Amino acid sequence: MNIQRAAESRINTIDFQNIGFGQHISDHTFDVVFSNDSWGEGRIKPYGAMHHGLGLHALHYGQAVFEGMKAYRQDDGHVAVFRPDANWARLSRSGSRLLIPEISKEIFMEGLLELLRVDEAWVPTGEDMSLYIRPFLFGSSEFITARPSEEYTFAILTGPVGAYYAQPVKVKIEDHYTRAASGGVGYTKAAGNYGGAFYATAQAQKEGFNQVLWTDHVEHAYLEEAGTMNVAFVLDGVLVTPALTDRILAGITRDSILTLARSWGMPVEERKVSVHELQEHASKGTLQEAFGMGTAAVVSPIDGIGYQGKMMDVPAPQDGVAQRVKKTLADIRHGRAEDVHGWMVRI
Ligand code: COI
Repeated sequence: MNIQRAAESRINTIDFQNIGFGQHISDHTFDVVFSNDSWGEGRIKPYGAMHHGLGLHALHYGQAVFEGMKAYRQDDGHVAVFRPDANWARLSRSGSRLLIPEISKEIFMEGLLELLRVDEAWVPTGEDMSLYIRPFLFGSSEFITARPSEEYTFAILTGPVGAYYAQPVKVKIEDHYTRAASGGVGYTKAAGNYGGAFYATAQAQKEGFNQVLWTDHVEHAYLEEAGTMNVAFVLDGVLVTPALTDRILAGITRDSILTLARSWGMPVEERKVSVHELQEHASKGTLQEAFGMGTAAVVSPIDGIGYQGKMMDVPAPQDGVAQRVKKTLADIRHGRAEDVHGWMVRI
């Protein structure tokens, strides 16, 4: 692999105490180009401008998919990444739906681990802190005929992050706009799924909500995702989450949380969850918790769910399921608890 190091690190310009989310990008990036039917040699170079004209295919036709993952500074000082193989597999599924050639697991892992070694100093220390990793794949030919790109670029950039939400969030059950339709690309991490959600999210934010709780595209009767996260509820002692369909992203945090809950003997149900069922539980007092599950926010307690002008209050207990899974995941990630599932990969 070709490695070109930055003449000077930017790390001293970062205030690690006020890091926020997604504001800072580390010194180096990894990239590799697919052309003439094969992937070339990967390279690591200082973060900087891409050399593409405005005919860049991904900008016009949206053949662009991405991943989100995190590396942690463990208590003994080592750096470990959480479930990178699962992110690689999902990137392949997303790319395949958008007719983007697969990046091999070898190129993905080699590029990732080498980049993390080069920028190891950027992995922060602290309970809610991590290095966010953004692998992405996009059509990088330059032409504007509406057909698939011929060249593709796979790249990885990283940046230190803190907590995504400092407080529990309020979500609005969306009964007009749609995030995904059956047969579409909702289950992928296509860039357009996120861009397509900004408008409805901005409308909900004007009404005082943090995020949209998306519903199905036909009846707007069944719950699907919360903002950019999967969603779960504790209903009368049962952890319930919408079953995966081709409209729902198969979250790696979601899968990890369900695995933990099952290992604790907690009843877990993956099935349809209707707005009506949620209302019934709210009125009976058995809507015990609601939370989002995602890479960025990890576990994000929801303390209010708005629907057609009314608010369902939801408890966000400190000793509930959300906090228990959050703590257990943090312990595994920081190397304080045994990694029985083999989730952590040291760099
Ligand atoms: C995630 O948390 O899984 C995300 O995809 C968030 C990202 C869009 C910032």
